[in-house]
Amino acid sequence: MASRYHEVYEAWQRDPEAFWAKAAAEIDWVKPWDKVFDPSMGGYGQWFAGAECNTCYNCLDRHVERGRPGQPAIIYDSPITGAKAVFTYEETLARVNAMAAVLADHGIGKGDRVIIYMPMIPEAVMAMLACARLGAVHSVVFGGFAARELATRIDDATPKAIVAASCGIEPGRVVAYKPLLDAAIDMSRHKPEACFVLQRPQAEAALGGARDHDFGALTADALAQGREVPCVPVKATDPLYILYTSGTTGQPKGVVRDNGGHMVALKWTMENHYGIAPGEVFWAASDVGWVVGHSYIVYAPLLQGATTVVFEGKPIGTPDAGVFWRVISEHGVVSLFTAPTAFRAIKKEDPEGKLIGDYDLAAFRTLFLAGERADPDTIAWAEDKLGVPVIDHWWQTETGWPIVGNPVGLGMLPVKHGSPTVPMPGYDVQVVDDAGHPVARGTLGNVVIKLPLPPGCLPTLWNAPERFHASYLEEFPGCYKTADAGLMDEDGYLFIMARTDDIINVAGHRLSTGAMEEVLASHKDVAECAVIGVADQLKGQAPCGFVVLKAGVNRPHAEIEKELVALVRDKIGPVAAFKLAITVDRLPKTRSGKILRATMRQVADGTEYRMPATIDDPAIIDEIAAALKERGLPVAG
Ligand code: COA
Ligand code: AMP
Repeated sequence: MASRYHEVYEAWQRDPEAFWAKAAAEIDWVKPWDKVFDPSMGGYGQWFAGAECNTCYNCLDRHVERGRPGQPAIIYDSPITGAKAVFTYEETLARVNAMAAVLADHGIGKGDRVIIYMPMIPEAVMAMLACARLGAVHSVVFGGFAARELATRIDDATPKAIVAASCGIEPGRVVAYKPLLDAAIDMSRHKPEACFVLQRPQAEAALGGARDHDFGALTADALAQGREVPCVPVKATDPLYILYTSGTTGQPKGVVRDNGGHMVALKWTMENHYGIAPGEVFWAASDVGWVVGHSYIVYAPLLQGATTVVFEGKPIGTPDAGVFWRVISEHGVVSLFTAPTAFRAIKKEDPEGKLIGDYDLAAFRTLFLAGERADPDTIAWAEDKLGVPVIDHWWQTETGWPIVGNPVGLGMLPVKHGSPTVPMPGYDVQVVDDAGHPVARGTLGNVVIKLPLPPGCLPTLWNAPERFHASYLEEFPGCYKTADAGLMDEDGYLFIMARTDDIINVAGHRLSTGAMEEVLASHKDVAECAVIGVADQLKGQAPCGFVVLKAGVNRPHAEIEKELVALVRDKIGPVAAFKLAITVDRLPKTRSGKILRATMRQVADGTEYRMPATIDDPAIIDEIAAALKERGLPVAG
């Protein structure tokens, strides 16, 4: 079928407000908006000002009321524990009602923040929806972060309550959450009033004091009593959630998502970008701790009346590289969304894709990849082995939905490997030089989006409107800075090449090298340090830390490096995947003292580089190269 993309994009360009008002008709509103877009609100204006709505109602109640009570809403498949379960829309609503009743009994209501610290279990999704039902603002924290990261989020979001599981399960180890939670609360200035802990059999938590509650027991009681809690109407512009993401410092950014615009945008994408009809099974193999999980495990599939898969496992090793195909065939998944790193892992384990042949994938239509650059080799492998279109698409925690993609629902455009394709309606994407002037097609530059951003994108940062302005709006006036560098070709296809800041992407996880440097610098023997992301065949990038020791330190370097690796794991968490600390005598700097991280990265990746004219002492680059060579990295000559 010929793509309707250009026609639809032009319709948006002609009249953005009419475009989004039409999309908004897909949502049930308690009160309609006064203005589709109000430029006077927030950092750059807000969508659906004056409207009232409830996100949980749109995700659950309306489907139960209108013909989908018996349809599965959530399929839980946990190869790591062996558990499986299916929850219909009616059952999901009953459980969400029960959880909302428990939270309301403890005084949680509209505007209160609730931190959710849970692994990939259906209760995590339900807890998010229970908060939405009450008008409370959830903030989900990924299980791979250390207690200190959790503490930072507790202090910033100041939650009234925390909903946690007793543990998460990683291959070969059970991660007890309660000790991490207790340590985080000990460290934080803000203390939540209540902690609700869902006991899992793999590691039950000791509950102590008046603050801890057995969440499973309380919700089971509420469920047995058939407790129902009405959906609390909130403003479309009220926050639905805060999701912390890496910035350039150790203090993460609290990305705020509103209720109304978020629903409108996600519902639009489900149909038009992902091409998913109500009743179909959509699987985003990510984690509820990331934006992909928020948007495409929880909210978008349920807004669409589709079925979502909650998968607690890994692409390999639980039990093998065929688990994705098993889940797709067993549950009739029509589209899978994951990070390229998952496919690189599968390809490494099963290069011929032999395990694919063991399963019936007849219903499977499309593979979507995002979260990091999709390398052409991986895309070509997936296309070849699966025989379905493989769609790369590019977005960020801040936007909540694809900026650039290939709209399957509108009819696919030809795929160009290495490009996530074209801007979605709502996004006027431009490539500009450092002075903000548009560059010629095919020229690398800063990727920016002309304001206003479309519905669903962040209106601000939690508690930090100045940081919001400084991070995103200041450098290129009238535009949102994505902090990605890229180019647009003659056909209007965008290619994303690299970040322009200190963010690295490790196995699809967004991490801050600045945060890691803060941790390394806190070690008593370290005088100065630099962390860079080096190319990694499996994870895309891996962090690598260089440290210069204080004068007079004469302990073995290997001992200190081991301590540094342990320190990052302890302070940031295992997800940082920080495994390489290298002691050097000096760091390469400009004459004004700026560390030349970009040159170090080029040396480490073995790519061609030009010695910066401003370098203070070129010999240091050779020392860095020698140190890297010793550790087996490719290294440029
Ligand atoms: N809770 C606790 N620890 C976690 C965790 C969680 N939810 N998620 C990851 N970790 C730990 C891992 O166990 C690992 O610990 P280790 O150092 O003891 O081995 C560490 O964090 C690094 O994890 P990861 O980078 O994921 O590497 P891995 O070697 O465990 O797995 C892949 C590699 C490719 C299989 C895995 O990264 C993957 O499935 N990636 C998909 C990416 C994804 O879903 N991204 C979300 C955005 S779309
Ligand atoms: P996150 O906020 O965790 O989703 O990370 C967003 C960042 O990941 C982007 O700014 C990009 O640097 C990178 N990214 C996400 N998707 C892609 C993609 N499809 N291609 C290239 N980079 C991507």
